[in-house]
Amino acid sequence: MGERLRVELGSRSYEIIVGERLLARAGTYVAQVARGNRAVIVTDENVGTLYLHRLMGALEEKGIGSLPIVLPPGEQTKCFAQAESLMETVLEHKPDRDTLIVALGGGVIGDLAGFAASILLRGLDYVQIPTTLLAQVDSSVGGKTAINSRHGKNLIGSFYQPRLVLADVSVLSSLPRRERLAGYSEVLKYALIDDAGFFDWLQEHAAEVLEGKAGALTRAILVSCRAKAAIVAEDERESGKRALLNFGHTFAHALEAETGYGDALLHGEAVAIGMSLAFALSVRMNLCPEEELLRVMRHLAQCGLPSSPLAVRANWDVEALMEHFSRDKKVRGESLTFVLTRGIGKAFVAHDVEKELVRQLLIEHLRPAPLDIAK
Ligand code: NAD
Ligand code: GLY
Repeated sequence: MGERLRVELGSRSYEIIVGERLLARAGTYVAQVARGNRAVIVTDENVGTLYLHRLMGALEEKGIGSLPIVLPPGEQTKCFAQAESLMETVLEHKPDRDTLIVALGGGVIGDLAGFAASILLRGLDYVQIPTTLLAQVDSSVGGKTAINSRHGKNLIGSFYQPRLVLADVSVLSSLPRRERLAGYSEVLKYALIDDAGFFDWLQEHAAEVLEGKAGALTRAILVSCRAKAAIVAEDERESGKRALLNFGHTFAHALEAETGYGDALLHGEAVAIGMSLAFALSVRMNLCPEEELLRVMRHLAQCGLPSSPLAVRANWDVEALMEHFSRDKKVRGESLTFVLTRGIGKAFVAHDVEKELVRQLLIEHLRPAPLDIAK
């Protein structure tokens, strides 16, 4: 039947349903929130090949007819051109205010379809059916929608909550291991922010989660979604606590920008490195015991996730990375905003991190390892 959680946002509240083989029963769940009997399913070529027909059949069983729109996979799809073409295609089919948008895919499809839903006919209802681990624990929940601009990632978007999130853990079996591992970073993020007990659980069960064992995956997704739902319910538009969800992300976004948002460094891999750097910065500022940084690094290594930018490439331009931090919307003078930590489960937002301290940290961490001349 699936486990149910609620994101409490008054009249915009919605359920997150997590469980196995939910796609086959999607018609039942979607019918409970659909205002009409027409849907547009937005997906990408990879996910469409695997799951589109199953979803269309499940909706049809409950009398919901659907128009599929299949887009190319990858981050490049989150752009103006694809958003325009998607919306023009929807409009050609004469939607009415009861037409439902269904996002079937990873964070790229969820962010793009959610953005389109938020502006089509001044707002159509939409449902998230996330198919990557990252999307199931993070991007499908909380209503942040976006496309990228040539000025940067996620700069054009809206806060627009879905009517339902359906996280079918069974579809993760077809996810490449590297993508599952990248999604695991966001699971770990919730433990590192404020749930040391969850970190202990992950230390014991990470292998099962990464191997795709349904029980462990379901539990990890539920704990993650519960954490995110609580934060979003308290601070939907990121005026305070929601910023904690950006733990590791300031570093991650700079590293991703430098590597071109592609296969060289996946978002979740960048987040793993970013979280390690956030711990290292906190240690440097005498806020956090070094042993906590080492515990996190050991865990990442056990999982097979990187904890240093040097795992990705040997040469980084420190000033280019600093430039990305300086462009951050939250910059105040010579200080930067980072999510820092006092230890595992003890993250907090700091608005007064000196740029020079961050520069020194990067110089130290990005120096290529010395040649072993003894060899
Ligand atoms: P993605 O959507 O690009 O999916 C990764 C790859 O996996 C793609 O090639 C996709 O086709 C494939 N795939 C998806 N599901 C599959 C399945 N079940 N089986 C086989 N292949 C499958 O990437 P992602 O990591 O899911 O999402 C990254 C995006 O999410 C970024 O654009 C990021 O900005 C965004 N994001 C948004 C939020 C938010 O709050 N809105 C939060 C975090 C990340
Ligand atoms: N992924 C960060 C947020 O949803 O706020």
